[in-house]
Amino acid sequence: MKLNKKFAVIIALAATATVTAAATFKEAEPMHYTNLNLKVLPKNISSKELQGLMVDDFQDALGVNCSFCHANNKNGHGLDFASDAKPEKEITRAMMRMTIGINKKYMHVKHPKIGSSVMVINCNTCHKGQAFPDGTE
Ligand code: HEC
Ligand code: HEC
Repeated sequence: MKLNKKFAVIIALAATATVTAAATFKEAEPMHYTNLNLKVLPKNISSKELQGLMVDDFQDALGVNCSFCHANNKNGHGLDFASDAKPEKEITRAMMRMTIGINKKYMHVKHPKIGSSVMVINCNTCHKGQAFPDGTE
């Protein structure tokens, strides 16, 4: 009887954990990727490509969250991805142009594109997971 009780508690805990995990996943999943204000990236970039780039090339390479570059929505809920209110976004555009330039001029990549595997030098080459690369590792 005692053992059964313990077992029931464990099952209840496991069930709670599963429900919590499912809820977290659901929250993080659907995201609407707009392309209202692209100045460096091609306007016809797919949601999938844009997402891969924002997550792998920007977020992970710099070790930051989306909100490092993207301003809050005026209503306080979520981020306004098209807004240019945060200076980090414009700095990033300059970094994107610089990265394209380095690949073209010094690495002789014919059609350098941010997020593409043709790039010899990318954000992570210098940033290595840090927003402020300081040369130390
Ligand atoms: C290091 C800065 C940086 C980070 C971090 C970042 N972004 Fe961006 N994001 C940009 C820049 C810069 C642009 C505009 C690119 C351009 O002008 O071509 C942009 C554009 C976008 C757009 C297009 C908005 C529009 O309508 O024009 C979306 C959507 C977006 N980002 C989502 C995200 C998400 C989601 C994350 C987090 C996973 C993220 N970004 C992280 C810099 C960043
Ligand atoms: C050739 C090396 C190099 C490449 C490539 C590079 N960066 Fe940088 N980045 C730097 C250096 C150096 C700084 C200045 C750090 C400082 O001021 O302490 C910097 C600063 C930044 C900052 C400013 C942080 C702040 O708030 O002042 C952002 C944002 C940024 N980079 C994003 C990117 C993104 C996104 C890419 C890829 C498209 C990229 N960088 C590619 C070297 C590089």
